[in-house]
Amino acid sequence: MSEVKFYMGESIPLELHKVRVVQKLNLVPIERRFNAIQEAGFNTFRLTTRDVFLDMLTDSGTNAMSDNQIAAMFQADDAYAGSQSFFKLHKAVEEVLGKKYLLPVHQGRAAENIISKAFIKKGDIIPMNYHFTTALAHILENGATIAELLFDDALQIKSDNPFKGNIDIQKLVDCIEKNGTDKIPFIRMEASTNLIGGQPFSIANMMDVRRVADKYGIMLVLDASLLGENAYLIKQREKEWAENTMADIIKMMTNLADLVYFSARKLSSSRGGGICTNRKDLYGKMEALVPLYEGFLTYGGMSVREIEAMAVGLYETLDETMISQSPTFIKYFVDQLSGFGIPVVTPPGVLGCHLDAMSFCSHIPQTEYPAGALASAFYLISGIRGMERGTISSVRDENGVELLADVELLRLAIPRRVFTLSQINYAIDRLRWLYDNRELIGGLKFVYEPPVLRFFMGGLEPTSDWLEKLLVKFKKDFGNSL
Ligand code: F0G
Repeated sequence: MSEVKFYMGESIPLELHKVRVVQKLNLVPIERRFNAIQEAGFNTFRLTTRDVFLDMLTDSGTNAMSDNQIAAMFQADDAYAGSQSFFKLHKAVEEVLGKKYLLPVHQGRAAENIISKAFIKKGDIIPMNYHFTTALAHILENGATIAELLFDDALQIKSDNPFKGNIDIQKLVDCIEKNGTDKIPFIRMEASTNLIGGQPFSIANMMDVRRVADKYGIMLVLDASLLGENAYLIKQREKEWAENTMADIIKMMTNLADLVYFSARKLSSSRGGGICTNRKDLYGKMEALVPLYEGFLTYGGMSVREIEAMAVGLYETLDETMISQSPTFIKYFVDQLSGFGIPVVTPPGVLGCHLDAMSFCSHIPQTEYPAGALASAFYLISGIRGMERGTISSVRDENGVELLADVELLRLAIPRRVFTLSQINYAIDRLRWLYDNRELIGGLKFVYEPPVLRFFMGGLEPTSDWLEKLLVKFKKDFGNSL
């Protein structure tokens, strides 16, 4: 993409779109935020958007849609079976992802359910770069376990490794040799590995994984939920691909996989999801499960309007101007915070800016959930909602022992084309204040812990009166400012 340079040489991301539909936001006073986070059980998932100023919880279903997507929704063909909207989507999947068989599902985790049910048996092991929460939950639910095979330095917070999402090929070979191919139904590669800070893998690495998969006759599954961004970072960082189009890179990645699935809530700035492949035998193993769990094969639990928006959104994924907006904002966010000495995951990844809570709140033991505490503290002092991606998002083992997460991150998501640069600057300003006052943040403990995916609805409380202290200091420094 041709870059717009500023006269004074500053590195400022420039919006290459204009805003024509807007939604009013509320920045409620800190006293309300103080009550709201307590009512939400110190869990940002449980806040209502009435109390949220900048919603940086996720990009899932919150990316801005284009005028063409909205227009397409009006042309949807309402039909239980054989809808023309589905055939448009099917064509888009063929043209963009290069796969001729498509199973529509209502979102990404529904694809994970179908794939797990179709291919996993009890006692299996799924090698992967790194897990995503819902993928792991479905694998465990079907009696299998996972082997995470990142290179050893991938979990280092501060790094200049451009491809932290790569699979360590030696570890992959060892894992297959140790467990045997009978126990390994597929290898899973997640584009823009979410939980380690939206970190990409390279084409070179995916080709190596493919060679191993071929050698042992194992299927390769690609989680393409964040495929566009991974492809964009390949173009930026992998010099062999610098001159290729997004279409070339995306096709290359999907060609290397036997099975591709995605959350359309992320990939195509819409809602929904899909599973696609060129192998009829694989399609055949999943086909019957879609009407059972999702809906008929031409809507898969989605409305036809969503299907239309998804088809247009898939083509828009090929537009580098569009796909680069979020990663360039994230880079600005990360570079600014790093410059102020605030610990963030580097190199900048996709999806959001990831703060290292273990270092930000080094005085809070990991058993008291530093990333969850930081998410609550940051909401209190800014009205910005981020997402805990640490031990609260982890699980307990079969004996009920807490499995401490590898990293404790507060993710501040930057959905595509949603926020302005002054809003990012506000977030940076409040993080600088919070970092200077970080000693005031304290720990959390669970008071309500659901058995599966506990982070969604779990309830916590502070281990001391630290929230009150933070409020008093904020009022002292900011007076009546919101
Ligand atoms: N795979 C990846 C890599 C994801 O990031 C997600 C969702 C899913 C699968 C599941 O898709 O939500 O449509 O069921 N990630 C969201 C997030 C929830 O906030 O990161 P889904």
